[in-house]
Amino acid sequence: MDGTNTFREKYDEYVNIVNNALDDCVATDDKPGSEIFNAMKYSLAAGGKRLRPVLALAVCDMLGGSRNDVLPFACAIEMIHTYSLIHDDLPAMDNDDYRRGMPSNHRVFGEAMAILAGDALLNRAYEVMISHIMKKEGDLRSFVRAMDVIAAGSGAEGMIRGQTLDISYEGRELSGETLEYMHRCKTGALIRAAVLAGACIGGASEQGYEALAEYAENIGLAFQIKDDIMDVEGSLDRMGKTSGKDAVSGKNTYVSVHGLEKAVQLLDGSVSTAVEALGCFGEKAGFLRDLAFFIKERDN
Ligand code: IPE
Ligand code: IPE
Ligand code: MG
Ligand code: MG
Ligand code: MG
Repeated sequence: MDGTNTFREKYDEYVNIVNNALDDCVATDDKPGSEIFNAMKYSLAAGGKRLRPVLALAVCDMLGGSRNDVLPFACAIEMIHTYSLIHDDLPAMDNDDYRRGMPSNHRVFGEAMAILAGDALLNRAYEVMISHIMKKEGDLRSFVRAMDVIAAGSGAEGMIRGQTLDISYEGRELSGETLEYMHRCKTGALIRAAVLAGACIGGASEQGYEALAEYAENIGLAFQIKDDIMDVEGSLDRMGKTSGKDAVSGKNTYVSVHGLEKAVQLLDGSVSTAVEALGCFGEKAGFLRDLAFFIKERDN
C-alpha cells in the first residue's frame, strides 16, 4: 500500500479487500434449506466497520507477510464477530432491534433462524481457515497457531466468557476490576485474536508478538469503553444500533460504574498505552497508531 495514503484511504482500501473476500465465504445453493445462507449473508453483508479483519491485514502488512495468507483468517474473525452480534441481539440476550443500520437478524428471519445463522457463521469461519491451510505445503505452524489464537479468543476463555459475565451481572453491581476483566474478555479477546493472527501469519518475532499483544489488549479495552460511552451519547442514526439501552437493561458499563468523565479518562489511558506499545516498530506502525486514535474518536 502506498505510504502517502491517508489513514482513511488505507482503512477503506482494507475494507474493500475484506468485503470482496467475505462475499466468497458464504455461497448459496438450490437445495432445500438454502434459506440459511440468506440469513447468514444478511448480517455479514450489512456492513460494519470491519475493524477486526482490517487489524489482521494491517498487522500482517506491517510485518511484510502475505495478504493472500492472512485474508482467510481475517474473514473468519469477521464471521465470528458477526455471529456474536446476531446472538447478542437476540431477545434472550440484549433484545436489540437494529444492527448495522438494519433490523437485527431475528427480526427479519425469526429467532430460530438467527440462532442457526450465528451457528453457521461460526462453523464457516473454521471451514474457511482449514480449507486455506489444506491448500498449503511445508511448515504450517504459523497458520495453525493463528487458528488457535482465534479459537481461544472467541471461546469460553475469551469472548464467550465476557458475554457470560455481561449477562450474569445484568442488574447487579460489579467491581471496577471485574468490569475491566469482562470488557477485556467480551470485546478485547477477539480484537487481540485479530492482531495476533496477523502477527502469526506475518511472522512476528517474539518481541514483536509481545508488543502487538500489549497494543491489542489496550485497543480492545478502549474499543468497548468507547462503545459504552456511545451508548449514552450516540444515536440510532449515527451508530446503526439502538442507543440508551445499557442503562435501561441494567448493564454494567464504564459509564455506569465510573461515570462519564472517568470513563473518558480511562479510554484515553488505554489508547496511550496501546500507542506506546508500538514503539519498537517505529514508522512502520503509523497505520496501527492512527487506528488506536480512530477507536477513541470514532462516532459509530
Ligand atoms: C460491536 O462491535 C460490538 C462490540 C464489541 C462493542 P463493532 O462496533 O465492531 O460492530 P460493527 O462490526 O462495526 O457492526
Ligand atoms: C457486545 O457488547 C460484545 C459482543 C461480544 C457481541 P455490546 O452488547 O455492548 O455490543 P452492542 O452495543 O450491542 O453492539
Ligand atoms: Mg451485549
Ligand atoms: Mg448488545
Ligand atoms: Mg454496547
